[in-house]
This record gives sequence, structure tokens and C-alpha cells, in this order.
Amino acid sequence: MYAIAVKDSHLHWCEHNDLPSPGGSEILIDVAWAGMNRADVLQRDGGYPPPKGASEILGLEVSGVVASIGPAVERFRVGDQVCALLAGGGYAEQVLVNEAQALRIPQGMTLRDAAALPEVFATAWLNLFMEADLREGERVLLHAGASGVGTAAIQLCRAFNNPCFVTVGSQDKIEACQSLGADGGWNRHDGSFVEAVQNWGGVDVVLDPVAGEYIEWNQQVLNLDGRIILIGFMGGRETSVDLARMLMKRQRLIGSTLRSRSPAGKGSVMDALYAHVWPLLENGRIKPLIDRTFSIQEADEAMRYLEENTSTGKVLMGVSGA
Ligand SMILES: NC(=O)c1ccc[n+]([C@@H]2O[C@H](COP(=O)([O-])OP(=O)(O)OC[C@H]3O[C@@H](n4cnc5c(N)ncnc54)[C@H](OP(=O)(O)O)[C@@H]3O)[C@@H](O)[C@H]2O)c1
Repeated sequence: MYAIAVKDSHLHWCEHNDLPSPGGSEILIDVAWAGMNRADVLQRDGGYPPPKGASEILGLEVSGVVASIGPAVERFRVGDQVCALLAGGGYAEQVLVNEAQALRIPQGMTLRDAAALPEVFATAWLNLFMEADLREGERVLLHAGASGVGTAAIQLCRAFNNPCFVTVGSQDKIEACQSLGADGGWNRHDGSFVEAVQNWGGVDVVLDPVAGEYIEWNQQVLNLDGRIILIGFMGGRETSVDLARMLMKRQRLIGSTLRSRSPAGKGSVMDALYAHVWPLLENGRIKPLIDRTFSIQEADEAMRYLEENTSTGKVLMGVSGA
């Protein structure tokens, strides 16, 4: 098969060993579309190796058609249209994945749009509703609000009655986030967000992929019993924490990652998406926001585009392009 290989920090579409037949609960997917994620940039640069046993090929999510199934597979048949959350291997013509990590695509949705779902909706759901245990009416601060994860999280907040405020890198992105359902926004290039979020009324939960100096600022805008869910460190891995404030305000700082979870752990997030989010995708209340598509042969250009920080929503690559 063909797959993306990394050579000298560039992505090349080239021949790769064929995958084995699926065993046990695995399904083999003919990839139609692959989603690009910020983590793929880190992996290309050697800063985010795949978990033990996972494919070395980049790519954390795909949509496609089931080509063959392992002997213990219960949920899928050959020919089903699926999307899947991966530990790796998505930038390829085919990928093997445990059936727990795949879902049938929502009714009425194209394979293209379905490729934009697994990684960002699983991340947003896991961290808002499972890790932070977000309750109806609680207020949320979303950093990188116009990212793939951010645009999914805004829509989940709106659907589940949680007012949200975003930080982003431009006025255009604030407006895009507001049109998705954000109640307010702050341009991160204008300095600290603390006063703006305090004036908005403070928050109960922060979804933070930035870290660095944001951690102390997050602490200043958190209400009593507030939770900071740390999902990345685009702003730096070193920070200072005000432990007195943390203790007095009963704040919690929770680190979270999706990729290293077991197939069953990823499957439990996918099952929650199927129960709570798939109906909203099928009735059109939530829509994946797709910024731009490329062909897989243009993966290198697509990744440079993602790194420019101008995208709002998802960048996808057509593999079979079905
Ligand atoms: N822990 C997990 O399980 C998990 C899972 C998925 C994603 N993530 C993390 O979630 C984040 C979003 O992922 P994604 O794939 O959705 O991203 P994306 O679509 O590539 O968007 C990332 C956005 O982050 C903003 N940004 C970049 N550098 C920044 C910095 N130094 N400080 C503040 N903002 C910055 C930029 O928007 P602006 O210029 O508009 O701010 C950029 O467009 C990433 O950090 C990713 O690693 C974590």
C-alpha cells in the first residue's frame, strides 16, 4: 500500500509494506479521508512518538469503508462506512484498528465530513464531560477556540447549555467562534485574557492546550471548585502554579491525553459520542467545521498550512477521496 513517510521533516507519499489481515476484534479500513491534527506536527518533528505497539505512520483519525474484519468482530461488516479514532496509521491507503475505536458514520453525512469527527469530538467530549464532569449551566473557557478541538468544544457547550468564552489569534476567529455558539472571545495577541474573562463572569472549567503562563491566568479566572483540563502545551511545558489559590479555591488541575488510552478506553469515549453526539450530528444541530481539504499527496503542504495558525476548524486530506 501507499502511506506517508517522514523524511528530513517533510511528508512523502510512498510505497509501504501491506498490512496483515485483521486479527481478533480488528477491522481493516480502506481510507477515504484522513484528518490532520496538531499532534501530527509534533510527531513529524520527533516530539510525540506513537504509543508502544501503534503504527509509526502519522494520522489519528480517518473515515473509510470496512475492507475486511477479524474473526471476533461483532459490530461491523465488510462494506460499512465508518470513521475511526486511531493511535496512529491514518495517513495511508489502509489502516487496522480495533472495532471499539470505530463508529458507523452519522446518517446523512459524507465520508469527507465524517473524517473531521473522531479526534476532535472525542477530545472535547472526554475532557469536558468525562474529565471535568461538566454540569449543565457551568461556564467554560476554551483556549485555541478556533482549532479543530475548539470548534467541536464550542458546539458541544452550546448543545449542552454551557456558556463558553474563547481565546484565539484574530478578530475574524472570534467572530467565527461566536457564530458557532461562543458567548465571547479574546485575541491572545492582545495580552492576558484575565480581565476579559473576569468581566464576562469567570468560569468553572478551562480546556487548555496552551499551558505556560496560561496556567496561572486560568487560576485567576476560575470559580470555586473550578477545573483546568490540560490537553497540550503549545505555550510551554514549564509554568508556575499558585498553590495557595489552588487550595483555598479548591481548584483542580488535570492532565489528559487520548492517544495513549487502550482500545477499550478510546472505545468508551466513542460509545459516549455515539450516544450523546451522533444524534445531534444526524439532526444537524452540530456540524464539523472543515476549513480546507488537500489530497494526501499534498500532505506536506497541508501540514505547513496547519502550522500557519490561520485555519478555523479541520484540515482534511483525501486518500481515496470517496
Ligand atoms: N491531550 C489530548 O488528548 C489532545 C487531543 C487532541 C488535541 N490536543 C491538543 O489540542 C490542541 C488543538 O489541537 P488541534 O489539532 O485541534 O489544533 P489545530 O486545529 O491545529 O489548531 C491549533 C490552534 O492553536 C492556536 N495556537 C498555536 N500556537 C499557540 C500558542 N503558542 N498559544 C496559544 N494558541 C496557539 C492557533 O490558533 P490561534 O492563533 O487562533 O490561537 C492554532 O490555529 C493542540 O495543542 C493539541 O495538541 C490534545
